[in-house]
Formats: sequence, structure tokens, C-alpha cells
Amino acid sequence: MNVSDLRIGSIGVNEGISPVEELGRVILMVGAGGHAVSLLAALKALGLSTAGSIRPGDGGSQLRPDSLPWLGDDEFLSRLDSRKFLLINGIGSVADLTLRRTVFERFRAEGFTFLSVSHPSSIVEKDVVLGEGAQVMAGVILQTGVRIGANSIVNTGAIVDHGCEIGEHVHLAPGVCLSGNVRIGHSTHVGTGATIIQGVKIGAGAVVAAGAVVTADVAPRQRVGGVPARELNNRSENEGRRSAEFAELYIDKRGA
Ligand SMILES: CC(C)(COP(=O)(O)OP(=O)(O)OC[C@H]1O[C@@H](n2cnc3c(N)ncnc32)[C@H](O)[C@@H]1OP(=O)(O)O)[C@@H](O)C(=O)NCCC(=O)NCCS
Repeated sequence: MNVSDLRIGSIGVNEGISPVEELGRVILMVGAGGHAVSLLAALKALGLSTAGSIRPGDGGSQLRPDSLPWLGDDEFLSRLDSRKFLLINGIGSVADLTLRRTVFERFRAEGFTFLSVSHPSSIVEKDVVLGEGAQVMAGVILQTGVRIGANSIVNTGAIVDHGCEIGEHVHLAPGVCLSGNVRIGHSTHVGTGATIIQGVKIGAGAVVAAGAVVTADVAPRQRVGGVPARELNNRSENEGRRSAEFAELYIDKRGA
């Protein structure tokens, strides 16, 4: 494989690559937390801009007011003509992907289209398939035969090797490393710096903790961590802290 054979940086909708300018539509950011900040940088690197952000209120945003104005809430967005806009899902996640998925499904059902984005510093093989709204952040490598499902995030510096199949609404956090032919089910979170060895299957709704090394299949909704990864305890006293982190990270409290 030669670096010059790789597609570096792209933007598109669905599984095609279509320059936004040709579509003649305005881009709107949904959400305003840390992930939205990274996406804004990716759009800027691609020479694109958004008209503003959609979030419940005009407070608490991690986006500077001068970088992205608040346009309105979900109800405001619902009243717009969906054919004139492209949405970018700026809602991130630590481990619970519910809010991100809910927003995607609601506005898709209302006729909106979500933009898929690859940061220009990412290396994406020509045959890679990105679902609608998939986001490939700075420094990512997606090798040949990889498929990324709709609304999934491949976060900063992650490596996804040949033949991996990633479901919908998945978050591969920064620095994740997937060896070849790994399969990840829908709505799964793979934590920062986790490694999954070749051929492993991760069930839908699973959580892989930050720094884990996963050497065997993980059942749907199972939470694993450590080296090698084992099932984690679920400590109920941490629920409150988790909810608080969730609310703070997402700004939008609908899913907290
Ligand atoms: C897996 C994770 C979600 C667990 O969070 P949690 O439910 O709040 O975990 P708790 O603090 O209740 O810990 C439950 C158990 O898991 C263990 N644990 C938690 N995180 C762990 C990790 N990364 N590796 C190994 N064990 C871990 C705890 O030690 C505890 O075990 P114990 O009861 O034997 O002491 C969290 O640790 C994590 O890794 N989040 C991902 C962060 C991330 O990817 N961020 C990306 C931002 S872009």
C-alpha cells in the first residue's frame, strides 16, 4: 500500500462523496459540547463552515459565541425546511450513546440528512464505506475493507485495520486500536486507548473501558475492562457521578 493511493480528507452524505457546495445547503451543528468543538475544527480544516448550533438554550456552550451562534432548540429545527439544510451531529459520548442516537433518529425521521465528515489529516482507504453521519476525526487511519455504520464516531487518532465492521451509533474513542476483521455491534462504546485483537466480536450496546485489551468476544450490553479485558463490576454509587458527567459533557440534558 502506497500513501498516495489513500484518500485523505473527504466529506459526503450517505455512502457517496458529494461536495457540500454543490448541494447548495447550509450546515447546522446539533449540540455544542466538546465533540462539537472538534467537529467545528474538522469542518474548518475542510474549508467549510456552519451557520450556527441547535441546542436547548443559549447557555453553557463550550463553543465560543463568536465561533458559532445559537440558532434555536430542537423545536426550532423541526420547523425548518429539511431540504435546505445538512446536519452535523455534535453530540459526543463517554459511554452512553442514547442521546446521540435519539437526535439522529428523530431528525432523520423528519427528513433531514446528516453529513459524514473525514478530517483532512485522516487516512481513509478508497474502498472504505462510511454510513450517513459517520465522523472520522483528526489523525484516524481506516484501512481497506472497513465499514463504518451510520452516526458512528471514529475519534482522534484511532486505527481501524483491514476488514473491520463497525455498527451504527458506535463511538471509537481517541486512540482506539482495532486489529483486522473486528466486528462491533450497534451503540457500542470503545473507550480511549482500548485495543481489540483480530477477529473479535463485540455485541451491541457493550462498553469497553478505557485502556482495555480485548482478546475474546464480548456479549451484547456487557461492560469489560482491564488487560486482558474482564467483565466490570457495576457500582451503583457511581450512577450519580456518571449522570453528572453526562449532563456536563453533552450540555443538552434530555438524555441525562
Ligand atoms: C468503563 C467506564 C465507562 C466505567 O465507568 P464507571 O461505570 O463509572 O466505572 P466505576 O467507576 O463504577 O467502576 C466500576 C468498576 O470498573 C473498574 N473500572 C472502571 N474503569 C476501568 C478501566 N478503564 N479499566 C479497568 N477497570 C475499570 C473500576 O475499578 C470498578 O471496579 P471495582 O468495583 O472492582 O473497583 C469508564 O471507566 C471508561 O472507561 N469510560 C470511557 C472513557 C472514554 O472513552 N472517554 C472518551 C471521551 S471522548
